[in-house]
This record gives sequence, structure tokens and C-alpha cells, in this order.
Amino acid sequence: METHLSGYWTNYFAKNLKINRIDWDLQAKITAEEKFNILKSLQAWQLGETSEGDHLINASKKYANTINDPEYLDAVKLFIKEEQKHGNNLGKYLDLIGEPRIKKDWGDTLFRKIRYFNTNMELWTIAVITVESAAQLFYQALKDATNCALLKQICTDILIDEAAHINFQRERLYIIFSQKNAISKWIAYHAYSCFFICTSLVVWSAHKKLFKAGKLNLHGYFNKMKLKLAKVAGKTVLYDHKEIFKITIKINKPTYN
Ligand SMILES: [Fe+2]
Ligand SMILES: [Fe+2]
Repeated sequence: METHLSGYWTNYFAKNLKINRIDWDLQAKITAEEKFNILKSLQAWQLGETSEGDHLINASKKYANTINDPEYLDAVKLFIKEEQKHGNNLGKYLDLIGEPRIKKDWGDTLFRKIRYFNTNMELWTIAVITVESAAQLFYQALKDATNCALLKQICTDILIDEAAHINFQRERLYIIFSQKNAISKWIAYHAYSCFFICTSLVVWSAHKKLFKAGKLNLHGYFNKMKLKLAKVAGKTVLYDHKEIFKITIKINKPTYN
């Protein structure tokens, strides 16, 4: 697998944050039926995207020190900024259609509790990859469940960002995985898959009304999630030995230019 230095990601995120892909002059036009299908999920994801990211920052700080890569922390901070941009845009849309931004949601509360106790970069990485993979299907379904041009643009913008987020995180997962011995690799590989599949099913059950409105049924959703799992944490990806030597050099390198 091709991996990039943290400097690549800070550059990418800094540039991407400046690109505006949404025309806020468009009117928010959503039908009552569309609203019925998507509102609850839209509110829940808006809340989920607005986290301050303090716990992820703490875990990343600790990890960046351990691997002597201070720029990794900068990349994570920019990554969090993009998530907050998603939360702001979805919030702005809720304001435009006259619906409240919610403060509490059981899925968000559960995920926040997990985040609170999690200071381990590996757990963070697989958790973020899983949620982002589900997010790709969620925002595509949201886009397909509405004819509102503004909401479609908001979704497209998020989908573009999420694709890069997954690459950023899958490279990190691969780097962390590559440092393990054979037994730990075996355990980690199965734990990643198990976590990914279980969380995927929780996301489905929480948002099935929206997925179905976006013409995605459980069978299609589950197949797509399995394909995503193979791409981010499949055997051929994680056990790809070609890059290990390069990665070791990158991690131990004190300067990054
Ligand atoms: Fe996001
Ligand atoms: Fe993301």
C-alpha cells in the first residue's frame, strides 16, 4: 500500500479546507415526504460531526510523540476541522429548513463514551475508519433521498472529504498494523473486522429509514460495507509487506522535507 508522510496530509487538508463546493445562494427546498424520511438521521449526523475532537487530539499527541512525528498531530487537527465543517454545513441546512440542531442522540452518546475512554491510536483509527465508511453510504443515500440541490451539494462536498479521510486513516492503520508481531497481527485483523461489521449493523439499524429512502436496502448496504472493509482492513491490504521497509524509514526520519 502506498503511504504518505504527515506533511502530505497537512498540505492536502489545508488546501482542501479552502475549497468551497457549496452554493449557499441556492434555496433549501425539501418536500414533507423527504423531510419525514431524513430529518432524524440528518440531525443525528449533524451532531456527530460537531465534536470538538479533544480526545482524538490527546490520543494523537501521545502517538505522535511516540513515533517522533509532530506533524501527524497537525494533520489530525486539520482532519477534525473538516469534520466540524461538515457539522456546520449540516447545521446551517437545518437552520434553513427551520428544524432544530439536536443536543443528544443515543448513537452519538454511545460513541462519545467510547471516545472518552479511548486513548489508543489504533482503536481510534479503526473506529474512525468504520464510521467514515458508513458515512460514505449514509451521505450517498441522503443525496439520493432528496431532490434539494443545496442538500445534494452539501452531501457531495462531504463525500469528497470522506474519501480522503478514509485514505488518511487506512494508511495509519496499516502503519500501526505493520509494527506488530505475527500473533498480534492475527488478533488485530480479526478484531478490526469484527468491530467494523458490528458497528456497520448498528449504523444500519439506527438509520435504515434514510438508507431505504436513498434506495439502499440491508443486503446492498451490507455488501457495500464488506467491500469497504476489504479495501481498508482486508488481508491483502494489511499484510502487504512491500511498504513496511519504507514506512520504518519514514517513521524514524526526524525531518519531513
Ligand atoms: Fe464528516
Ligand atoms: Fe470524515
